[in-house]
Amino acid sequence: MNFLITGASRGIGYDTALALAADPTHQVLVLSRNEAQLQALTQAGQQQFGTNNIAYLAADLATFEPTRVYDWVASFGHLSGLVNNAGLLINKPFMELTTPDWEQTFSINLFGVVRLLQTLQPLFKQAHVINVGSMGGFQGSSKFPGLSAYSASKAALASLTECLAEEWKDEGIACNCLALGAVQTEMLTAAFPGFQAPVSSNQMGSMIAWFLQNGHTFFNGKVLPVSVSTP
Ligand SMILES: NC(=O)c1ccc[n+]([C@@H]2O[C@H](COP(=O)([O-])OP(=O)(O)OC[C@H]3O[C@@H](n4cnc5c(N)ncnc54)[C@H](OP(=O)(O)O)[C@@H]3O)[C@@H](O)[C@H]2O)c1
Repeated sequence: MNFLITGASRGIGYDTALALAADPTHQVLVLSRNEAQLQALTQAGQQQFGTNNIAYLAADLATFEPTRVYDWVASFGHLSGLVNNAGLLINKPFMELTTPDWEQTFSINLFGVVRLLQTLQPLFKQAHVINVGSMGGFQGSSKFPGLSAYSASKAALASLTECLAEEWKDEGIACNCLALGAVQTEMLTAAFPGFQAPVSSNQMGSMIAWFLQNGHTFFNGKVLPVSVSTP
């Protein structure tokens, strides 16, 4: 089975990709900007599992050329799963957020996902799409100062998930959003300096890899909180 993970150069995406690569029957495709870190991920897979099943494309989700991404993914065949994991968090009080801050946040957290889904939809076969959301974008959750642009973008991503599940239900494509709580990564440190998350990136990566392969048997169009603490 072929799976694509965005934002795999570090953090949760890196660990999700590694967890999937542990199964030698999987082809794991990874995409983010930092080529050196993606190369390190492929080497980590080789060292840990003795496999050579991670392939990477260095690309920016805000500006990627659709045919370049489509042709690269298509060269491996159909996709069984996509994790839209790449994300950007700008931590600033609402009154200091500039229009470029809002545009940058939405260009990665929402429009990058939209463009990638439109690019790759013809390659999905009985596929499970996971959009990695946040408790910040989960209706009724606790909110925190400085995270308005980020949380609004994740709320939009959650809504997009519900809409796509409906539009694609007859095409064998399931779409779910995991609204993550705190996970120990660089992004968490940017949002909550000094806070120690109860969940490691490694633990969350394993959970997402499992859910990608199994969750669509039980869920479609759902926004699921995956959180054990506040924040
Ligand atoms: N950590 C948490 O507590 C937490 C909580 C809730 C939700 N989340 C969500 O979980 C996801 C992963 O977060 P994380 O904590 O692992 O973050 P992270 O450590 O900051 O990693 C973010 C990843 O996104 C990629 N990325 C950022 N901008 C990109 C762009 N323009 N094009 C392509 N890739 C891009 C980065 O790669 P490059 O820099 O190489 O491009 C990196 O691999 C995000 O969607 C985040 O919102 C995290």
